[in-house]
Amino acid sequence: MAKLRLAVMISGSGTNLQALIDACADPDYPAEIQVVISNRPDAGGLLRASKAGIKAVVIDHKKFEDRESFEDALHVCLKDHQTQLVCLAGFMRILNAEFVNRWRDRMINIHPSLLPSYKGLNTHARAIEDGVRFSGCTIHYVRPEMDNGPILMQAVIPIAPDETPESLATKTLTYEHQMYPAAVKLIADGNVRISAGKVVFKDTELGETGLISPLI
Ligand code: GAR
Repeated sequence: MAKLRLAVMISGSGTNLQALIDACADPDYPAEIQVVISNRPDAGGLLRASKAGIKAVVIDHKKFEDRESFEDALHVCLKDHQTQLVCLAGFMRILNAEFVNRWRDRMINIHPSLLPSYKGLNTHARAIEDGVRFSGCTIHYVRPEMDNGPILMQAVIPIAPDETPESLATKTLTYEHQMYPAAVKLIADGNVRISAGKVVFKDTELGETGLISPLI
C-alpha cells in the first residue's frame, strides 16, 4: 500500500522530527516524510533532515509582509509535495484560521501539556507553579483556536516533588517521541476518524491503547 505523505513543520531542535525520521526508517512503517519546513533558518531540525536525506525548506516568516503571504507560501510548499498529513512538531507560529481550515483534519500538533489544560507557552513552569500532580502531552488535530481540536493521544506524566521546568520538559519529550510515530501510524493505517468533534478509533482495541499513555 502507498505510504502516507507527511510534511513536518518545525521551528526548533526537532527531536520530535527525529522520532518520526527514525520511525519512517522502518520499511514497514506506513508513512514517509516528503518535506521538512522550518520557519527559522537556524532550526536544529534542518540538520536532522539533511542528515537523513530528507528535503528541508526554510520559509522564514520574517521575509514576508504579513501572515497571509507567509501562510500562502507554506500552503504552496505543502501542495507541491502532495502532502496528505501535516505534522506540527515544535512549530511555534500561530496559524490563521484560513490556513488551518485548508488543512482541516489533515494537520496534527503536539503540545507539552494535558490539553485542554495549559495551552500556550511555558506549560511546565505553569503546571509546577500551580502544584498539579500530573502533567502530560497531547497530540490533537488542529483547529483555528490555539492548542485546540480533537484529541488523538495523550500521555500522563506525574510531577515529582522536586520537579523543575527543565526536568519535566526532558521527561515529557521522551513520551512525545513515543507518541508522535504511534499517532501518525494510527492515521496512516486508516484507524482514525473524527465524529462530532472527537477522535474515534475504528478498531476499539486501538481505542483503548490510544486513550492514555500509549506504548508506555
Ligand atoms: C515539544 O515539547 C513540543 O511539544 C513543543 O515544543 C517542543 C519541540 O521540541 N511544542 C509546543 O510548545 C507547541 N505549542 P522539538 O523541536 O525537540 O521537537
